[in-house]
Amino acid sequence: MSSKYTNIIVAKPEPSVSLITLNRPKALNALSSPLFEELNKALKDADTDDSIGAIVLTGSEKAFAAGADIKEMQDKTYAEVFKNRFLEDWGQLAKIRKPIIAAVSGYALGGGCELALMCDIILASPTAKFGQPEINLGVIPGGGGSQRLASLIGKSRTMELVLTGRNISAQEAADWGMISRVVGEGEGQVIKEAIEMAKTIASKSQIAVQAGKEVVNAAYELTLAEGLRFERRIFHGCFATNDQKEGMAAFSEKRKAEFTNS
Ligand code: HXC
Repeated sequence: MSSKYTNIIVAKPEPSVSLITLNRPKALNALSSPLFEELNKALKDADTDDSIGAIVLTGSEKAFAAGADIKEMQDKTYAEVFKNRFLEDWGQLAKIRKPIIAAVSGYALGGGCELALMCDIILASPTAKFGQPEINLGVIPGGGGSQRLASLIGKSRTMELVLTGRNISAQEAADWGMISRVVGEGEGQVIKEAIEMAKTIASKSQIAVQAGKEVVNAAYELTLAEGLRFERRIFHGCFATNDQKEGMAAFSEKRKAEFTNS
């Protein structure tokens, strides 16, 4: 299953969970264009596979990803990056309907931090380090970091990260509301917990899960009035599903719901 890729490994640790591991260990998972091409393909496959309910994205113990591939970028010109729409493909991840959980250990820097921020939930090892060090390279974040961080952790903290290039610890990221939580110590623990969470999500009605993801994401784009209206309409829409009938009947009958994703 994973053999068609060289920069990532795709596995199914649970029948309902897709685990995608970034796999360029010698370059600390630097995000090259070929890697992103493979990642987008694997995400699309998982998104269209009915047996998959949630996706976990991870890297190695040392690095989730140390950023966009600097060696690939360094000689590019403005005309080249403009004409080739450099980085535009990165946005594909945010269009995936199924929830994506980032399981972060080690460095999540620059584009690596931005990649984690594009996911729906971030779990981190105590070893994780987040940062936007692009300023040290004479550039700025280009994968959404300035925008997503500003809405998550506010202006002052975002300015500090983007303008000084300082890395923050997993605990600081949790205290700032950038990630869900820091998991316990131990190699592989963050992946284990992310898979467990993905399994839980995958056991729910997939229509409701994807509707839930859509409405939460709308909160970052719409005004409050528009967002409330959108949420209510999608909530109304849930009443057209068999899963709503099943979920509420199961509650009344004091049994476990058997969702059919219909
Ligand atoms: C290409 C990278 C890389 C990167 C590390 N490597 N990060 N290659 N692009 N982003 C390579 C190194 O060149 C080296 O290869 C190998 O990985 C191991 O890295 P070392 O530096 O030797 O490891 P270490 O001393 O442990 O330091 C780890 C590190 C450091 C602190 C994470 O590697 C580092 O500062 N990396 C760059 C971080 C960064 O600036 N990221 C932002 C990139 S810009 P060799 O061949 O020498 O062994 C960016 C823009 C995003 O992300 C905008 C669009 C999305």
